[in-house]
Amino acid sequence: MSLTSLTEQEQTVVPQAEGTEDRLCTYPVHVVGIGAAVPSDRLTNQALETMVDTSDEWIRTRTGIRERRIAPAPLASSDLGFAAARVALEQAGVTPADLDEIIVATVTPDYQFPSTACLLAARLGLVGIPAFDLAAGCSGLMYAIEQACQAIRSGSRRTVLVVAAETLSRVVNFHDRRTCVLFGDGAAALVLQRASLQDEPGILATNLGSDGRGAHLLVVPAGGSRLPASSQTIAQGLHYLQMSGSEVFKFAVRVMEESTRLVVARAGLRVEDIDCFIPHQANVRIIQAAAERLGLPAERIMVNVDRYGNTSAASIGLALVEAYQQGRLHPGDVVVMTGFGTGLTWGSVALRWTAPPPTPEQVRTLVYQATAADAAEALGTPPACPSPLPGESKNGV
Ligand code: UT7
Repeated sequence: MSLTSLTEQEQTVVPQAEGTEDRLCTYPVHVVGIGAAVPSDRLTNQALETMVDTSDEWIRTRTGIRERRIAPAPLASSDLGFAAARVALEQAGVTPADLDEIIVATVTPDYQFPSTACLLAARLGLVGIPAFDLAAGCSGLMYAIEQACQAIRSGSRRTVLVVAAETLSRVVNFHDRRTCVLFGDGAAALVLQRASLQDEPGILATNLGSDGRGAHLLVVPAGGSRLPASSQTIAQGLHYLQMSGSEVFKFAVRVMEESTRLVVARAGLRVEDIDCFIPHQANVRIIQAAAERLGLPAERIMVNVDRYGNTSAASIGLALVEAYQQGRLHPGDVVVMTGFGTGLTWGSVALRWTAPPPTPEQVRTLVYQATAADAAEALGTPPACPSPLPGESKNGV
């Protein structure tokens, strides 16, 4: 069923009822470290003009994008995720051995299996803790934060690494002007940690949702169990991303407003209380339309789509890191992140910022510029296994 065939009432997919999950929370959860990584290679609109029938003017006015980063071979999602994780861990003052779980949000994993999270855990020298991938498209980071939060609040985990890592350039058809101008590669990482019971909460509320009726609107048709890769699927380009851009556009504007209003209400706040709004960076027109519906002034909205394009699950994290790097986040600020993506999915997180301003050194290093050489380590000898030994899980902290 097409979303366009639904009535306006049916299209209102975000439940309006108040959530109850916040009443169940026990431990407060704080973001104690963030980091990002992007490939150092830039693909400008001018370069795209030489590849497909497009123009810098069309791309800028329709999307707001000027350039995006493209991972050179053999750089993969786990390499970008690893680089982002190292920055976040260092910033948090946390060692890999302190981690109780790793969640990676991605739709462009290194392999169909094993999971990118397991590759990342091995790169960090970790054996024994749970590590898994989560596929929720561009809402992936919001989903991963909620999963981490629930585990920490319940007391079953103390410190969780959440990573969003994507190499969309690997599934984009660079002969298709409708999609190849939009996407880029990048990664972001957050360290979430339990605070003491007396502390104020950092993460205030979350809101996630999905509507699989729109699954066909943004899809990589081949390569899964429905349509396994074959010479035929490759000849037909079915291993590339396909998107109904204008349908996704309408869905995005509606759902970003609804999900944001809901998460803010769950946090016991009003939209006017948002100090920094960090939307998924897909298209500046979507961001502006959603912000207009919410009545948010431009100075409270974080936008960096011009320099990175749409990096799917990584985009909100990359924008959060840049907002912090630019000194836009202060202790006590209300930050609301919201995204939408393939599935269709949506998700929002409201939090009160608790980290002190970055040091000059952190400002320089929060976004790591990755090169092909960063993949060499992963392709070489696997890292040695430190304790805990296989089977010695750290669960139940
Ligand atoms: O993360 C979630 C995933 N995706 C998104 O959030 C994307 C959501 N959608 C969008 O951002 C927008 O719909 C697009 C940027 C994809 C497209 O913008 P639009 O204003 O909806 O354009 P359109 O698809 O209606 O196309 C308008 C025209 C068409 O030409 P005709 O048929 O009117 O002659 C397209 O063929 O623009 C043409 N066009 C292009 N022209 C130059 C489409 N792509 C290009 C291009 N360069 N790259």
